[in-house]
Amino acid sequence: MQDNNYLYSFTYNDTESELCKLESRYIFDQEEKNRLLISPLKIAPSSSAFIKNRLDIIAFSDDYTTLIRAINQECITIEGFKVEYHVFYGDTTNYADRLDMLRDIGYNINGYPDYHHPTRTYALCFYEDIWYFGTVIKDKFDWYKHNQKPYSYSNSISINIAKSLVNIAAKANRDMEILDACCGVGTIMLEACFAGYTIEGNDINPKICQSARDNLSFFDYRANVFCSDIKTIQKTYDVAIIDLPYNLMSVATELDLFHIIKSTTEITDRMVIVSASDISSLIANVGFRVSDSCSVSKKGKTTFARKIWVCEKDEK
Ligand SMILES: C[S@@+](CC[C@H](N)C(=O)[O-])C[C@H]1O[C@@H](n2cnc3c(N)ncnc32)[C@H](O)[C@@H]1O
Repeated sequence: MQDNNYLYSFTYNDTESELCKLESRYIFDQEEKNRLLISPLKIAPSSSAFIKNRLDIIAFSDDYTTLIRAINQECITIEGFKVEYHVFYGDTTNYADRLDMLRDIGYNINGYPDYHHPTRTYALCFYEDIWYFGTVIKDKFDWYKHNQKPYSYSNSISINIAKSLVNIAAKANRDMEILDACCGVGTIMLEACFAGYTIEGNDINPKICQSARDNLSFFDYRANVFCSDIKTIQKTYDVAIIDLPYNLMSVATELDLFHIIKSTTEITDRMVIVSASDISSLIANVGFRVSDSCSVSKKGKTTFARKIWVCEKDEK
Protein backbone atom coordinates (compact mmCIF):
# COMPACT_ATOMS: atom_id res chain seq x y z
CA MET A 1 0.00 0.00 0.00
CA GLN A 2 2.84 2.47 0.74
CA ASP A 3 3.20 3.43 -2.96
CA ASN A 4 -0.55 3.63 -3.54
CA ASN A 5 -1.07 7.25 -2.68
CA TYR A 6 -4.35 7.96 -4.42
CA LEU A 7 -7.83 6.58 -3.95
CA TYR A 8 -10.13 7.22 -6.90
CA SER A 9 -13.92 7.03 -6.82
CA PHE A 10 -15.88 6.62 -10.05
CA THR A 11 -19.36 7.46 -11.20
CA TYR A 12 -21.08 5.99 -14.24
CA ASN A 13 -24.40 4.53 -15.29
CA ASP A 14 -24.81 0.83 -16.12
CA THR A 15 -24.52 1.37 -19.89
CA GLU A 16 -21.05 2.91 -19.39
CA SER A 17 -19.70 0.28 -17.00
CA GLU A 18 -17.66 -1.61 -19.64
CA LEU A 19 -16.25 1.63 -21.02
CA CYS A 20 -15.20 2.87 -17.58
CA LYS A 21 -13.45 -0.44 -16.88
CA LEU A 22 -11.73 -0.37 -20.29
CA GLU A 23 -10.56 3.18 -19.65
CA SER A 24 -9.27 2.38 -16.16
CA ARG A 25 -7.28 -0.57 -17.58
CA TYR A 26 -5.45 1.89 -19.87
CA ILE A 27 -5.04 4.78 -17.42
CA PHE A 28 -4.20 2.78 -14.28
CA ASP A 29 -3.24 -0.63 -15.61
CA GLN A 30 -5.98 -2.06 -13.40
CA GLU A 31 -9.77 -2.10 -13.35
CA GLU A 32 -11.88 -0.10 -10.95
CA LYS A 33 -13.77 -2.36 -8.54
CA ASN A 34 -16.96 -1.28 -6.78
CA ARG A 35 -16.40 2.12 -8.42
CA LEU A 36 -13.10 2.48 -6.50
CA LEU A 37 -9.42 2.08 -7.28
CA ILE A 38 -6.18 2.71 -5.35
CA SER A 39 -3.11 3.64 -7.39
CA PRO A 40 0.33 5.27 -7.22
CA LEU A 41 -0.59 7.27 -10.36
CA LYS A 42 -1.73 10.87 -10.00
CA ILE A 43 -4.47 11.57 -12.56
CA ALA A 44 -6.58 14.75 -12.79
CA PRO A 45 -10.22 13.73 -12.19
CA SER A 46 -11.40 16.06 -14.97
CA SER A 47 -9.41 14.13 -17.59
CA SER A 48 -11.94 11.28 -17.32
CA ALA A 49 -15.72 11.45 -17.48
CA PHE A 50 -15.90 8.74 -14.84
CA ILE A 51 -13.48 9.81 -12.09
CA LYS A 52 -15.55 11.64 -9.51
CA ASN A 53 -12.94 12.32 -6.82
CA ARG A 54 -9.30 11.67 -6.12
CA LEU A 55 -8.32 11.29 -2.49
CA ASP A 56 -4.68 12.24 -1.95
CA ILE A 57 -4.03 9.95 1.01
CA ILE A 58 -2.44 11.60 4.04
CA ALA A 59 -2.94 8.80 6.58
CA PHE A 60 -4.42 5.31 6.66
CA SER A 61 -4.81 2.53 9.17
CA ASP A 62 -6.92 -0.53 9.86
CA ASP A 63 -7.53 0.93 13.32
CA TYR A 64 -9.58 4.13 13.67
CA THR A 65 -7.83 5.38 16.85
CA THR A 66 -4.43 4.89 15.20
CA LEU A 67 -5.66 6.87 12.19
CA ILE A 68 -6.75 9.80 14.40
CA ARG A 69 -3.34 9.75 16.10
CA ALA A 70 -1.64 9.80 12.70
CA ILE A 71 -3.76 12.79 11.61
CA ASN A 72 -2.83 14.58 14.84
CA GLN A 73 0.86 13.95 14.14
CA GLU A 74 0.53 15.63 10.75
CA CYS A 75 0.03 18.95 12.66
CA ILE A 76 -2.30 20.25 9.94
CA THR A 77 -2.93 23.99 10.29
CA ILE A 78 -5.39 25.55 7.87
CA GLU A 79 -8.20 28.12 7.97
CA GLY A 80 -11.49 27.39 6.23
CA PHE A 81 -11.14 23.62 5.89
CA LYS A 82 -13.97 21.14 5.51
CA VAL A 83 -14.07 17.42 6.30
CA GLU A 84 -16.45 15.07 4.48
CA TYR A 85 -17.25 11.44 5.09
CA HIS A 86 -17.32 9.43 1.85
CA VAL A 87 -19.39 6.28 2.11
CA PHE A 88 -17.87 3.56 -0.08
CA TYR A 89 -18.90 0.03 -0.95
CA GLY A 90 -19.04 -2.22 2.12
CA ASP A 91 -18.96 0.59 4.69
CA THR A 92 -21.78 0.09 7.20
CA THR A 93 -20.83 2.90 9.60
CA ASN A 94 -24.06 4.59 10.70
CA TYR A 95 -24.79 8.28 10.23
CA ALA A 96 -24.40 9.29 13.88
CA ASP A 97 -21.00 7.58 14.11
CA ARG A 98 -19.90 9.21 10.88
CA LEU A 99 -20.71 12.65 12.31
CA ASP A 100 -18.76 11.85 15.50
CA MET A 101 -15.77 10.82 13.39
CA LEU A 102 -15.86 14.05 11.40
CA ARG A 103 -15.86 15.90 14.70
CA ASP A 104 -12.83 13.86 15.89
CA ILE A 105 -10.93 14.88 12.79
CA GLY A 106 -12.00 18.52 13.10
CA TYR A 107 -10.52 18.61 16.62
CA ASN A 108 -7.20 17.36 15.24
CA ILE A 109 -6.84 20.10 12.61
CA ASN A 110 -5.70 23.56 13.70
CA GLY A 111 -7.94 26.30 12.28
CA TYR A 112 -11.61 27.16 11.78
CA PRO A 113 -13.70 25.16 9.34
CA ASP A 114 -15.76 26.70 6.54
CA TYR A 115 -18.42 24.33 5.23
CA HIS A 116 -19.72 26.60 2.47
CA HIS A 117 -16.55 27.93 0.83
CA PRO A 118 -13.77 25.63 2.02
CA THR A 119 -10.15 26.44 1.21
CA ARG A 120 -9.44 22.70 1.28
CA THR A 121 -11.66 19.68 1.60
CA TYR A 122 -10.53 16.59 3.46
CA ALA A 123 -12.33 13.27 3.54
CA LEU A 124 -12.51 10.21 5.73
CA CYS A 125 -13.54 6.86 4.28
CA PHE A 126 -13.45 3.16 5.00
CA TYR A 127 -12.73 0.65 2.27
CA GLU A 128 -11.73 -3.01 2.44
CA ASP A 129 -11.07 -2.82 6.21
CA ILE A 130 -8.82 0.25 6.03
CA TRP A 131 -9.56 3.80 7.18
CA TYR A 132 -8.27 6.50 4.86
CA PHE A 133 -7.90 10.23 5.43
CA GLY A 134 -6.76 12.66 2.77
CA THR A 135 -7.35 15.73 0.63
CA VAL A 136 -10.19 15.52 -1.86
CA ILE A 137 -9.69 16.67 -5.45
CA LYS A 138 -13.07 16.80 -7.17
CA ASP A 139 -13.94 16.81 -10.83
CA LYS A 140 -15.30 20.33 -11.33
CA PHE A 141 -16.83 19.30 -14.66
CA ASP A 142 -15.27 22.31 -16.47
CA TRP A 143 -15.32 20.17 -19.60
CA TYR A 144 -19.13 20.40 -19.65
CA LYS A 145 -18.50 23.74 -21.36
CA HIS A 146 -17.80 21.72 -24.53
CA ASN A 147 -21.54 21.04 -24.72
CA GLN A 148 -21.81 24.69 -25.76
CA LYS A 149 -19.56 24.24 -28.80
CA PRO A 150 -20.86 26.28 -31.75
CA TYR A 151 -21.12 23.32 -34.15
CA SER A 152 -22.54 19.91 -33.44
CA TYR A 153 -24.07 17.28 -35.68
CA SER A 154 -26.06 14.10 -35.41
CA ASN A 155 -23.00 11.87 -35.93
CA SER A 156 -21.13 13.43 -33.01
CA ILE A 157 -19.98 11.08 -30.33
CA SER A 158 -20.86 11.76 -26.67
CA ILE A 159 -18.38 13.68 -24.54
CA ASN A 160 -18.04 10.76 -22.11
CA ILE A 161 -17.02 8.38 -24.86
CA ALA A 162 -14.76 11.02 -26.43
CA LYS A 163 -12.82 11.49 -23.18
CA SER A 164 -12.43 7.74 -22.73
CA LEU A 165 -11.22 7.23 -26.29
CA VAL A 166 -8.44 9.74 -25.74
CA ASN A 167 -7.33 8.09 -22.47
CA ILE A 168 -7.52 4.58 -23.93
CA ALA A 169 -5.61 5.66 -27.04
CA ALA A 170 -2.79 7.50 -25.29
CA LYS A 171 -2.80 5.38 -22.09
CA ALA A 172 -2.74 8.69 -20.19
CA ASN A 173 0.69 9.44 -21.74
CA ARG A 174 0.84 13.12 -22.75
CA ASP A 175 3.89 12.44 -24.94
CA MET A 176 1.89 10.40 -27.44
CA GLU A 177 0.81 12.14 -30.64
CA ILE A 178 -2.78 11.27 -31.52
CA LEU A 179 -4.63 11.46 -34.83
CA ASP A 180 -8.42 11.73 -34.86
CA ALA A 181 -8.72 10.17 -38.30
CA CYS A 182 -12.41 10.95 -38.97
CA CYS A 183 -12.71 13.92 -36.65
CA GLY A 184 -16.15 15.25 -37.63
CA VAL A 185 -16.81 18.48 -35.72
CA GLY A 186 -13.94 17.70 -33.32
CA THR A 187 -15.70 16.29 -30.24
CA ILE A 188 -12.76 13.99 -29.47
CA MET A 189 -10.21 16.71 -30.24
CA LEU A 190 -11.83 19.10 -27.74
CA GLU A 191 -11.47 16.55 -24.94
CA ALA A 192 -7.88 15.74 -25.92
CA CYS A 193 -6.93 19.44 -25.94
CA PHE A 194 -8.69 20.03 -22.62
CA ALA A 195 -6.73 17.20 -21.00
CA GLY A 196 -3.40 18.40 -22.41
CA TYR A 197 -2.84 15.80 -25.13
CA THR A 198 -1.30 16.50 -28.53
CA ILE A 199 -3.84 15.72 -31.24
CA GLU A 200 -4.46 16.44 -34.90
CA GLY A 201 -7.68 15.82 -36.79
CA ASN A 202 -8.68 14.84 -40.28
CA ASP A 203 -11.99 14.61 -42.11
CA ILE A 204 -12.95 14.23 -45.75
CA ASN A 205 -15.76 16.79 -45.54
CA PRO A 206 -14.56 20.44 -45.91
CA LYS A 207 -17.61 21.97 -44.18
CA ILE A 208 -17.27 19.65 -41.21
CA CYS A 209 -13.53 20.35 -41.02
CA GLN A 210 -14.27 24.07 -40.78
CA SER A 211 -16.78 23.37 -38.00
CA ALA A 212 -14.10 21.41 -36.12
CA ARG A 213 -11.65 24.31 -36.51
CA ASP A 214 -14.28 26.80 -35.32
CA ASN A 215 -15.13 24.60 -32.34
CA LEU A 216 -11.46 24.36 -31.35
CA SER A 217 -10.81 28.08 -31.66
CA PHE A 218 -14.03 28.87 -29.75
CA PHE A 219 -12.35 27.32 -26.70
CA ASP A 220 -8.93 28.71 -27.62
CA TYR A 221 -7.41 25.29 -28.37
CA ARG A 222 -4.69 24.99 -31.00
CA ALA A 223 -4.73 21.82 -33.10
CA ASN A 224 -4.44 21.14 -36.82
CA VAL A 225 -7.45 19.86 -38.73
CA PHE A 226 -6.63 18.45 -42.17
CA CYS A 227 -9.25 18.15 -44.83
CA SER A 228 -8.58 15.04 -46.88
CA ASP A 229 -9.40 11.44 -47.47
CA ILE A 230 -7.51 9.53 -44.78
CA LYS A 231 -5.62 7.65 -47.51
CA THR A 232 -3.67 10.83 -48.39
CA ILE A 233 -2.28 11.38 -44.87
CA GLN A 234 1.42 10.52 -44.78
CA LYS A 235 2.50 11.77 -41.37
CA THR A 236 2.81 8.98 -38.80
CA TYR A 237 1.24 9.02 -35.33
CA ASP A 238 1.71 7.09 -32.09
CA VAL A 239 -1.97 6.24 -32.13
CA ALA A 240 -5.10 6.95 -34.18
CA ILE A 241 -8.70 7.16 -33.05
CA ILE A 242 -11.27 6.31 -35.72
CA ASP A 243 -14.93 7.06 -35.08
CA LEU A 244 -16.20 5.26 -38.17
CA PRO A 245 -19.18 6.48 -40.22
CA TYR A 246 -22.23 4.45 -39.17
CA ASN A 247 -24.52 3.78 -42.11
CA LEU A 248 -23.24 0.30 -42.68
CA MET A 249 -26.05 -1.06 -44.78
CA SER A 250 -24.59 -0.72 -48.28
CA VAL A 251 -21.67 -2.69 -49.71
CA ALA A 252 -20.00 0.57 -50.74
CA THR A 253 -20.01 1.78 -47.15
CA GLU A 254 -18.48 -1.42 -45.89
CA LEU A 255 -15.73 -1.03 -48.45
CA ASP A 256 -15.34 2.52 -47.31
CA LEU A 257 -14.84 1.37 -43.71
CA PHE A 258 -12.22 -1.11 -44.84
CA HIS A 259 -10.49 1.61 -46.80
CA ILE A 260 -10.48 4.01 -43.82
CA ILE A 261 -9.07 1.38 -41.47
CA LYS A 262 -6.54 0.06 -43.99
CA SER A 263 -5.30 3.59 -44.76
CA THR A 264 -4.90 4.32 -41.05
CA THR A 265 -2.76 1.22 -40.54
CA GLU A 266 -0.21 2.80 -42.91
CA ILE A 267 0.43 5.68 -40.49
CA THR A 268 0.21 4.11 -37.02
CA ASP A 269 0.81 0.87 -35.12
CA ARG A 270 -2.06 1.43 -32.69
CA MET A 271 -5.72 2.26 -33.33
CA VAL A 272 -8.78 2.76 -31.16
CA ILE A 273 -11.82 2.28 -33.37
CA VAL A 274 -15.49 3.04 -32.70
CA SER A 275 -17.95 1.06 -34.81
CA ALA A 276 -21.60 0.15 -34.87
CA SER A 277 -20.91 -3.47 -35.88
CA ASP A 278 -18.46 -6.30 -35.34
CA ILE A 279 -15.32 -5.39 -37.28
CA SER A 280 -12.97 -7.95 -35.71
CA SER A 281 -12.43 -9.91 -38.95
CA LEU A 282 -11.82 -6.68 -40.83
CA ILE A 283 -9.13 -5.74 -38.29
CA ALA A 284 -7.46 -9.13 -38.68
CA ASN A 285 -7.47 -8.61 -42.47
CA VAL A 286 -5.35 -5.45 -42.16
CA GLY A 287 -2.64 -7.14 -40.07
CA PHE A 288 -3.75 -5.87 -36.68
CA ARG A 289 -5.08 -7.71 -33.63
CA VAL A 290 -7.80 -6.66 -31.19
CA SER A 291 -6.08 -6.39 -27.80
CA ASP A 292 -9.16 -5.19 -25.92
CA SER A 293 -12.73 -4.13 -26.60
CA CYS A 294 -16.02 -3.11 -25.03
CA SER A 295 -19.61 -2.12 -25.83
CA VAL A 296 -21.33 1.07 -24.81
CA SER A 297 -25.01 1.73 -25.38
CA LYS A 298 -27.01 4.90 -25.00
CA LYS A 299 -28.83 5.32 -21.72
CA GLY A 300 -32.41 4.16 -22.25
CA LYS A 301 -31.69 2.97 -25.83
CA THR A 302 -30.80 -0.69 -25.67
CA THR A 303 -30.89 -1.34 -29.41
CA PHE A 304 -27.98 0.87 -30.48
CA ALA A 305 -24.60 0.00 -29.02
CA ARG A 306 -21.23 1.26 -30.12
CA LYS A 307 -18.26 -1.05 -29.98
CA ILE A 308 -14.80 0.15 -29.10
CA TRP A 309 -11.82 -1.81 -30.37
CA VAL A 310 -8.26 -1.35 -29.17
CA CYS A 311 -6.06 -2.61 -31.99
CA GLU A 312 -2.30 -3.17 -32.13
CA LYS A 313 -0.17 -4.03 -35.13
CA ASP A 314 0.22 -7.79 -35.26
CA GLU A 315 4.00 -8.36 -35.19
CA LYS A 316 3.72 -12.10 -36.06
C1 LIG B 1 -19.08 9.24 -37.11
S1 LIG B 1 -18.47 10.64 -37.91
C2 LIG B 1 -17.26 11.26 -36.75
C3 LIG B 1 -17.90 12.10 -35.70
C4 LIG B 1 -16.91 12.77 -34.79
N1 LIG B 1 -16.25 11.84 -33.89
C5 LIG B 1 -17.60 13.84 -33.97
O1 LIG B 1 -17.92 13.58 -32.80
O2 LIG B 1 -17.89 14.90 -34.51
C6 LIG B 1 -17.45 9.98 -39.17
C7 LIG B 1 -16.72 11.01 -40.01
O3 LIG B 1 -15.89 10.34 -40.94
C8 LIG B 1 -15.71 11.19 -42.06
N2 LIG B 1 -15.16 10.38 -43.16
C9 LIG B 1 -15.83 9.48 -43.94
N3 LIG B 1 -14.97 8.92 -44.83
C10 LIG B 1 -13.75 9.47 -44.61
C11 LIG B 1 -12.45 9.29 -45.21
N4 LIG B 1 -12.27 8.44 -46.21
N5 LIG B 1 -11.40 10.02 -44.72
C12 LIG B 1 -11.61 10.88 -43.71
N6 LIG B 1 -12.80 11.09 -43.11
C13 LIG B 1 -13.86 10.40 -43.55
C14 LIG B 1 -17.10 11.77 -42.27
O4 LIG B 1 -17.05 12.99 -42.97
C15 LIG B 1 -17.59 11.93 -40.82
O5 LIG B 1 -17.44 13.26 -40.38
